[in-house]
Amino acid sequence: MTVIKEAQTRAGILKTEIEKHNYLYYVMDQPEISDAEYDRLMRELIRLEEEYPELQTPDSPTQRVGGRPLTIFNSIRHRIPLLSLANTFDEVELKAFDSRVKKALGTDSEVEYTAELKIDGLTIALTYEAGLLVQAATRGDGEEGEDVTANVKTIKSIPLRLPSPINIGVRGEVYIKKNDFERLNRQREDDEEALFANPRNAAAGSLRQLDSKITANRPLDIFCYDILYIEGQTITTQWEGLELLKRFHLKSNPEAKLCKGIGEAIEFCKYWTEQRHSLAYEIDGIVIKVNSIQAQTKLGFTAKAPRSKVAYKFPAEQVETKVKAIEVNVGRTGAVTPLAILEPVKVAGSVVGRATLHNEDNVHNKDIRVGDWVVIQKAGDIIPEVVRSLSEKRDGSEQIFEMPKVCPECNSAIYREPGEAAARCIGATCPAQLRRGIIHFVSRDAMNIEGLGEAIVIQLIESGLIRDVADLYQLRFEDLVGLERFGTKSATNLLTAIGDSKTNNLGRLLFALGIRHVGAGAARELAERFGSILKLMDATFEDLTVIPTIGPKIAASIVKYFNEPHNRELVRKIIEAGVNVFQEAATDIPQTLAGKTLVVTGSLVSFSRSEIEAVIRNHGGKAASSVSKNTDYVLTGSDPGSKLQKAQAIGVKIINEEQFKALLAGKEI
Ligand code: IVH
Repeated sequence: MTVIKEAQTRAGILKTEIEKHNYLYYVMDQPEISDAEYDRLMRELIRLEEEYPELQTPDSPTQRVGGRPLTIFNSIRHRIPLLSLANTFDEVELKAFDSRVKKALGTDSEVEYTAELKIDGLTIALTYEAGLLVQAATRGDGEEGEDVTANVKTIKSIPLRLPSPINIGVRGEVYIKKNDFERLNRQREDDEEALFANPRNAAAGSLRQLDSKITANRPLDIFCYDILYIEGQTITTQWEGLELLKRFHLKSNPEAKLCKGIGEAIEFCKYWTEQRHSLAYEIDGIVIKVNSIQAQTKLGFTAKAPRSKVAYKFPAEQVETKVKAIEVNVGRTGAVTPLAILEPVKVAGSVVGRATLHNEDNVHNKDIRVGDWVVIQKAGDIIPEVVRSLSEKRDGSEQIFEMPKVCPECNSAIYREPGEAAARCIGATCPAQLRRGIIHFVSRDAMNIEGLGEAIVIQLIESGLIRDVADLYQLRFEDLVGLERFGTKSATNLLTAIGDSKTNNLGRLLFALGIRHVGAGAARELAERFGSILKLMDATFEDLTVIPTIGPKIAASIVKYFNEPHNRELVRKIIEAGVNVFQEAATDIPQTLAGKTLVVTGSLVSFSRSEIEAVIRNHGGKAASSVSKNTDYVLTGSDPGSKLQKAQAIGVKIINEEQFKALLAGKEI
């Protein structure tokens, strides 16, 4: 055997050995060799790879901590969307879930479920091709996430190569154990770095590092729980899926249980509600899944979640604190929400200083007064809320809350429509509404414009540069560099991010507009059904309610939104700025009109006036309003105007609708 062949064989053996010991140590918790022996194997492999760099394959354990830091995370479209789960909070709701399942499956017999711990971490989708880990992505909005492969490779309980050369997609939760979290925070305290609020945030912060060397030093771990797809094999039950994960050395949670019916699943929930603190990691509930995959398929999905799975959320931890003041907050729809300013207190892992009081009636029904002692909790373990006041602790100095008559931000009247829970600021130009609307527009699940935090949004509004979201697209370099906090680089970056957002698909834009009741899921569904904003703008209530996931509330809100002339004007400005208003992402639209200027005259059969202009723009062309020497084509419909004569006079090419469609399709005419 040649020297190089020998090295290759030895490296192969070492890689397999080291991965085996990673598995035994990190997945099975049953190490067979000492740390020193493990280090020896690792050092030998590093030496061999240094000598023969061609042996340094991507699945080599030496490659867990990878190359150069990234500058950004690339975004990745998930092959299978990563949906979320509906929540239940008690036995009654779990039984209702079971009844819905039975009804949809047409059975009276007990349904088999798996009951699994709901790990409080961060969702990750792993992609293995021919057994090799090729990609790891965050959940993002469920459709698109971020490529965190380099970081995920540093997690030693995740195999870089599976024992079988299979194509498989797996969903799991990356988390940090409670004691590792405390150690990490102690270390950060010593290093005078900001502390993480809880293990979940620490895991998320660690995975979002551009430099995987930092991630490698964080004690991340994983539990895998769902097979998103698998090629060449069929799984008939979720339980079998969990077994299969184990066979492939993918770490799954050992506490999962196969339950005969909902009764056993409820027992499991009760048991873990009591016992959860005894675990080494944090869980925030139990996930219950119909075991049969065939039944899962039959049950299908709502807009957001499968009907075959549900989360049971543990009752929230409650603590007592004092209300120092009650302020009001103006949201993007003008809703004025009372907010309790609290004596800061720790609850469910983080310090809370304010809590929503939802609305005026809630404050009065619960009789929450300024100066009261109150019980607070985190709804869904995230948003702090006041549960009740402790009237027995009053000393008489407490003040009853009164909803202000005018908006604290714009002095317009606050009005509460009869039958509505929310009071609203009626100011059409209220800066608070505008601010929140813009913050929502640019947020990650919406137009995803990075670098536009609240402070900058306020600055742009106050300097008069933006009065609505469409104005963002009119910002120029000169506008920004003059502002405080902006340098050449940050101005360029922001303009690039704004420019990039023009190619988003329609789903994001619809969500970004902030139409009441239209969440990200509904926005996506509408985008897919209608294909263009122009069609949606003219949709009737009936056109909308035929869509199974669009109920009357959402439909009415959409119709109302697009009936408002100023909203239609806003959409027009957005189109004019060149923002894609079609479902197909603009980057996927063939730029067949690139560099061409078209003028339209007369009415067309397949396109309305604003539609045709958007089509031209989205295919890379320019839609001009008057004919000149620079016009490439004049597109004529029926009853053309004087533009046709002008085109004939100066010899511009005249085309009809059919020829236009041929042009769009990339044909020569
Ligand atoms: S199943 C279609 N199983 O909890 C959704 N989720 O809202 C499939 N989670 O972000 C999810 N442990 O990442 C499932 N054993 C488990 C889980 C689990 C934690 C997370 C999940 C999701 C959230 C549910």
